[in-house]
Amino acid sequence: MTEYEAPTTAIIIVAAGSGTRLGAGTPKALVDIDGRSVLRHALDGVFAAHPMQVIVVAPAGHEQVVADELADAGSGRGWRASVVTGGATRQQSVAAGLAALADGIRIVLVHDAARALTPPSQIDAVADAVTADAGVIPALAVIDTLKQIDGDAVVAAVDRSVLAAAQTPQGFPRAALEEAYARALASRDEHTDDAALFAAAGGAVHRIPGSALAFKITTPADLQRARLLLGGSTASAPVIPRIGVGTDVHAFGGDGDLWLAGLQWPGEQPLSGHSDGDAVAHAIVDALLGAAGLGDIGQHFGTSHPEYAGAHADVFLARTARMLADAGFAIGNVSVQFQGNRPRFSSRRAEAERALSDALGGASVSVSATTTDGLGFTGRGEGIAVTAVALIIPRS
Ligand code: CTP
Ligand code: MG
Repeated sequence: MTEYEAPTTAIIIVAAGSGTRLGAGTPKALVDIDGRSVLRHALDGVFAAHPMQVIVVAPAGHEQVVADELADAGSGRGWRASVVTGGATRQQSVAAGLAALADGIRIVLVHDAARALTPPSQIDAVADAVTADAGVIPALAVIDTLKQIDGDAVVAAVDRSVLAAAQTPQGFPRAALEEAYARALASRDEHTDDAALFAAAGGAVHRIPGSALAFKITTPADLQRARLLLGGSTASAPVIPRIGVGTDVHAFGGDGDLWLAGLQWPGEQPLSGHSDGDAVAHAIVDALLGAAGLGDIGQHFGTSHPEYAGAHADVFLARTARMLADAGFAIGNVSVQFQGNRPRFSSRRAEAERALSDALGGASVSVSATTTDGLGFTGRGEGIAVTAVALIIPRS
């Protein structure tokens, strides 16, 4: 069959249930699995199968969103597709779908939207196995040991080898299925699936193998299983880390010892500045504040804050780490590099990284140093330039 030939098979996807056991507060078919709804996954499976008429039975009041999902899923396929409103029971919903069958349809499949991950091959296999006088259901062997019970009492063992767990889609010859539905309506009999209704009217039903993926999403645990099978995490939204960059420059000048990268450097010329001139620490503060969107060092530690005059890196960094924690961020790592001829850094690198890390509450800090081949103010020994980057992680 080509796409444009009128199909002789139809699939009725019942999606009108409220999803009481899932308890999501919205009809089960519209519940999000991984950015796509239960219904959308079911539709994707159907549209990956062979062309057929598609009838989706929607929860009352949600027809438009269902029609949008259907249009999206079937876009560009040229399949005949429509939405009808469901009823109070699954059986009534199927009956509403049957009323929308096109004239040329000979085979009808009835499928639960809640079996969202049903493989397209299962849909095709059912359609292929229906005959003019017998229905077909996919079914799985029962793996649990079954008991017959009476209240709390276990009355008897049940031979599971003669049992199977029914899935959907269930396929039937159209005329016989319509007749069976008419009889059920007349006798007001309610059946839990179409095969039972069909058999009650005297129809024969065969089974073919089902698939574990065709499980019905019924409880929150089933929804979690669907999410995991789709390769997603069970968290509702991905955690996106944030980065920030900070630079600082200080000129050499003034009296006393140099303070750099959280360490005192006896005998080295100091850097001038409002505090101790520790340009490495200041660049880290700006990188962290920038990553968190919390402003910059001038705003929080500048000359308008005399309490920080002469303060060392541990004070700045501890306060910054606290501000980030209060804003809901953990520090991933900080990487910082300074340009300058002095001090000779490598022998104290580990000590500096430990001091800076301790001040940040244990976050990973790496520090490197480089010269500029005699070029620029750093090359002339006039001062130090620093660049820092920080990665921070929003706490979920
Ligand atoms: N269904 C339907 N109309 C109804 C009831 C059920 O179309 N009145 C559909 C559901 O949308 C589902 C399928 O029949 O795709 C199987 O039903 P079930 O898993 O029981 O879904 P719900 O009835 O929605 O869930 P619950 O029983 O937990 O309320
Ligand atoms: Mg139900």
